[in-house]
Amino acid sequence: MRYAILILAAAAASAQHSSTTITNPYNTAKDRVEGAATYRSQCGACHGPDAKGGSGGPDLSRGQYKHAVSEEAMFKVITKGVPGTSMPGYSFDGKLAWQLVAYLRGLNQEQGGGVGDAGRGASLFASLRCAGCHSGKAPNLADASQRMTRAELRLALVDPNASVSAEYWQWKWKLRDGATVSGRRLNEDTYSIQVMLANGRLQTLLKHDVAASEDARKSPMPSFAGKVPDGDIDSLVAYLVSLRRAN
Ligand code: HEC
Ligand code: HEC
Repeated sequence: MRYAILILAAAAASAQHSSTTITNPYNTAKDRVEGAATYRSQCGACHGPDAKGGSGGPDLSRGQYKHAVSEEAMFKVITKGVPGTSMPGYSFDGKLAWQLVAYLRGLNQEQGGGVGDAGRGASLFASLRCAGCHSGKAPNLADASQRMTRAELRLALVDPNASVSAEYWQWKWKLRDGATVSGRRLNEDTYSIQVMLANGRLQTLLKHDVAASEDARKSPMPSFAGKVPDGDIDSLVAYLVSLRRAN
């Protein structure tokens, strides 16, 4: 934490004497995903949902900037605004602002070439048996690709546990009689919990019978990091992006 504070102080100082180069301390895949979420809630109304520009603000996706010529300058634009224009300054803490920088810089890099081969991605999709899960219990990937940026799709493949929606959390219940039950929690009322077991069957647990419970916010999906080369991850992402509907 101390490290981050020092960096922010340095960023402020070098805004006056731009002698040091500041590197973004919040630039992991997870930061980019969180930056994307902040972007959607705070910035999309002016700059467009994909940062491709809107009625209220310019395109931020292509890496061609008037003011935000470096990461540090972009940090300053976000926190101070652009005087004399409608671009407001945001009193975010440093982390949120750097995550936005990470997200926008990630988009800029996406615009470059060499981002995987959708055709190869389609055959990897078959050979890695993605459809084994994604044609039934797991999310519909055409919908996911519509909603998710390339960075988010990539993260879903290399670190599925980074963000798992609650309906996929794996729970474990210990019953008073010593048995354990694990699965997804579908529903809960005053007296009972509805569970979907791994084999797809439904089971109702009476709360009265439950001695302890534990949730693991882990994805049932395996990580593909290290299992397939980086270029293949890019190709899978390219294939997923190709599933996006034209509109
Ligand atoms: C009310 C509309 C509005 C909102 C909301 C807004 N912006 Fe802007 N933004 C603008 C306008 C207009 C400009 C162009 C300023 C100019 O003419 O130089 C701009 C410029 C920028 C630039 C500099 C672009 C360049 O060419 O250097 C960045 C970066 C930026 N905005 C990021 C953000 C981020 C991140 C958010 C959300 C936290 C945000 N903006 C929210 C209107 C907005
Ligand atoms: C063992 C089953 C399983 C396999 C195999 C599997 N997935 Fe998944 N995948 C899931 C589940 C369950 C989720 C939802 C939970 C989560 O967000 O991690 C998911 C989530 C995703 C998401 C994020 C979707 C969203 O809505 O957030 C993407 C993208 C994805 N998978 C792509 C793939 C690709 C591509 C492959 C093959 C390379 C693959 N998956 C293999 C089970 C699987």
